[in-house]
Amino acid sequence: MKSIRSTGWMTDDKFLKEYAPKAVILSGGPASVKTNASPRAPQEVFDLGVPILAICYGQQTMAVQLGGEVERSDQREFGRADVEIHEMSPLFEGVWEVGKKYPVWMSHGDKVTKLADGFSVIGTSPNAPFAIAVDEARRYYSVMFHPEVMHTPDGAKLLRNFTHNIAGLTGDWTMAAFRNEAVNEIRKQVGDARVICGLSGGVDSSVAAVLIHEAIGEQLTCVFVDTGLMRANSDGTGEGEEVVRLFRDSYNIPLVHVEAEEMFLGKLAGVDDPEKKRKIIGGLFIDIFEAEANKIDNAEFLAQGTLYPDVIESVSFDGGPSVMIKSHHNVGGLPERMNLKLVEPLRELFKDEVRVLGRELGLPDHFVARHPFPGPGLAIRIPGAVSKEKADILRKADAIYLDEIKKAGLYDEIWQAFAVLLPVRTVGVMGDERTYDHVLALRAVTSTDGMTADYYPYSHEFLGACATRIINEVRGVNRVVYDITSKPPGTIEWE
Ligand code: XMP
Repeated sequence: MKSIRSTGWMTDDKFLKEYAPKAVILSGGPASVKTNASPRAPQEVFDLGVPILAICYGQQTMAVQLGGEVERSDQREFGRADVEIHEMSPLFEGVWEVGKKYPVWMSHGDKVTKLADGFSVIGTSPNAPFAIAVDEARRYYSVMFHPEVMHTPDGAKLLRNFTHNIAGLTGDWTMAAFRNEAVNEIRKQVGDARVICGLSGGVDSSVAAVLIHEAIGEQLTCVFVDTGLMRANSDGTGEGEEVVRLFRDSYNIPLVHVEAEEMFLGKLAGVDDPEKKRKIIGGLFIDIFEAEANKIDNAEFLAQGTLYPDVIESVSFDGGPSVMIKSHHNVGGLPERMNLKLVEPLRELFKDEVRVLGRELGLPDHFVARHPFPGPGLAIRIPGAVSKEKADILRKADAIYLDEIKKAGLYDEIWQAFAVLLPVRTVGVMGDERTYDHVLALRAVTSTDGMTADYYPYSHEFLGACATRIINEVRGVNRVVYDITSKPPGTIEWE
């Protein structure tokens, strides 16, 4: 079955009738049903006669569309809550029991205050008296918490109950089927033109490149740009080298390696606004890709490893009202004048799905399991203006931190870990001498898709050992702090 993630909430009644879904999930979102022009589910959703699971904002819009009421709440609720189950439902079958409490993840401002006809409350939390409200006769289920995030530990089981037991679906979508579909679509889109693929050194662009290579073979040329904002490995080599080796040697995919440190650091000098930094970096990438494309006959397309979360958090996918949190450069930083058309085969996938696709395509396991690394690189891990001196300090500290994580066997438990060089200097004392150096923040989070995250609970001993090693070995850092903010309300990166 073809995915319709891309069609978003503006899906119209005609489309829904033709598509004939067997179930509908109304997802959460940043809007308030109390404001004008906030999204509503198409009316057809309620006329289809299929089960509906409405989550957070979805619960609120379903409530008002069916005759209930929602009020703005003074108390916003972010983070963990406990829901108590009052009545059994097929939604909890085999997972939750009546009379017990279970941890869930909340992230909302408004709340339902009056239920629509036919609904009854079967689960509550201290701040959400309508945490779970259902109309079993119509098979309408509404929850205020987010079952789709890993911080609701039983969330995936509830979703499975909804799709398999309530809606009778079988779950026959496979990554192998996605791969075939994507290969056909790439061939259709590209025809006999040539494609340039920007490799960042990370998993996403590498998976995109291998997938596109499978589709169009020699028509693909990869370009790896060394921006001067890449990380270092603990042996001092740059992280790009591994990618270059993998592509040139193992896959035999033509690869152009562009050294552009001076160009990037030059343009970024003195720029401290994070969005301006992203735009400059995105713009330079495009300049370089276009220059490389000009050297190749018939190069019409630029391929990128843009993922669905980049799309959701950067711009609205379909012109809809999603809130721009950061312009991830894959999406928001592209200048409108760009002459190349985009090929983005991963645009509807989440990171964990990209890893599965990477394995399906035969990429080495250790490569697919790499922590994500943002396109703008270390520039967004140096809050304020970026310089070579700062990038070098950060590179060294980051390599030590990652080395300690790997030695402790923690790398695979952590979604992403990195150091941030703060534009704050503090006084210290080393060997009887006063120092006045940078503060370095360490960050490590658990997550499945980068959309929500929790800080990783290291032992104090581990943190102490990292701090000691970094301060002893990295000139320019005299204090280390650990960031214990979850997402939301923080983001994973500091900029
Ligand atoms: P945030 O900081 O938004 O990060 O919570 C979520 C995930 O996205 C990565 N990230 C980026 N990736 N360009 C990218 O390609 C960007 O501008 C960018 N900003 C954040 C981040 O590393 C994390 O994995």
